[in-house]
Amino acid sequence: MNKLINGRTPLYRAVITGYGSFAPAKTLKNEELAKMVDTSDEWITTRTGIKARHITTDNESSAFLATEAAKKALAEANLDVGDIEIIVVATITPEMVFPSTASFVQRTLGAKKAWVFDLAAACTGFVYALSIVQQFIESGRFKNALVIGAETLTKITDWTDRTSCILFGDGAGAIVLEQSNDGRRGILYSTMHSDGERWEALNCQAYGSRYPVTKPLADPKKIYMQINGREVYQQAIRRIVETVNHCMDHCSLTIDEITMLISHQMNARIIESASKRLNLPAEKVFINISEYGNTSAASVPIAFDECVRKGKIKRGDIIILVAFGAGLTWGANIIEF
Ligand SMILES: CC(C)(COP(=O)(O)OP(=O)(O)OC[C@H]1O[C@@H](n2cnc3c(N)ncnc32)[C@H](O)[C@@H]1OP(=O)(O)O)[C@@H](O)C(=O)NCCC(=O)NCCS
Repeated sequence: MNKLINGRTPLYRAVITGYGSFAPAKTLKNEELAKMVDTSDEWITTRTGIKARHITTDNESSAFLATEAAKKALAEANLDVGDIEIIVVATITPEMVFPSTASFVQRTLGAKKAWVFDLAAACTGFVYALSIVQQFIESGRFKNALVIGAETLTKITDWTDRTSCILFGDGAGAIVLEQSNDGRRGILYSTMHSDGERWEALNCQAYGSRYPVTKPLADPKKIYMQINGREVYQQAIRRIVETVNHCMDHCSLTIDEITMLISHQMNARIIESASKRLNLPAEKVFINISEYGNTSAASVPIAFDECVRKGKIKRGDIIILVAFGAGLTWGANIIEF
């Protein structure tokens, strides 16, 4: 395929040359969660598709997970760390308030040439990051980038709230993008959206400048993620369907031309319901939430890595990455792999 996107074929394209993921060894199964809060494996499985999640220990941080995933992606791409030009870490559970998580990844990898930053767009963070890096590579300004999604959401989970603690897990995924001038393969199109009016649907309010760590919190629960599950559920389906339809129209793609939809893994029912509305058959929709839960910005690159390694996508296939999350934010990338 060699689609003209918006009547424009860039001189260069951002091609995926490496991919990798990493999850902490410790897991928490639904049966174990059911001993902590009033829930059951049956309730969680039928409502979300989640069976277990990976959990970091006190010694495992977001930068650690990010670096482990990055090492695998760099090995796959056969890219020397000294040649990396950009490192972006998409995360809402950063290593520290500052410096960025990406600074720690750069230091541990020894990627001295790179300029680095974090991106906070919650579950849409990785898709946003690909879209930003795509611009730098297509313009010819930079030749490669390491894009990582890394989260330790279980560190901001309220383990006494059964409506949210069943959902989240920890992990990281990474992708190496490199400049190519064959014009055919790579990120073909990205679309990004936000709606700040609905910020309350999903949030974690402490410890930013509104509720600083230096002042006692009137509501101690503000240190945890808070979600309005029903609102998110409805918005997620609506925005995923809208975004994927827009991408297909914009790129003149048909369902037959799509090999795989790789969605942010927030709830298997949300993904299945959106796919049904898009007339995408189950074999064209990758779901791996059962083992990981929702890992926010890490979920798309973890799913991408697994999807390739399980042989479900191969070079030349058309893939849609789509995500929805806090902000609210949503977006998608169309990729010829
Ligand atoms: C959270 C979510 C799984 C809840 O599923 P749901 O089908 O909407 O369930 P409801 O919230 O309507 O709750 C149904 C009942 O189950 C109960 N319930 C909630 N959590 C439960 C749990 N873990 N175990 C057992 N019962 C539970 C509720 O109290 C409610 O009981 P009631 O009818 O007696 O009031 C679903 O809304 C969801 O996945 N939302 C999006 C998640 C999200 O925000 N992800 C992050 C952003 S990408």
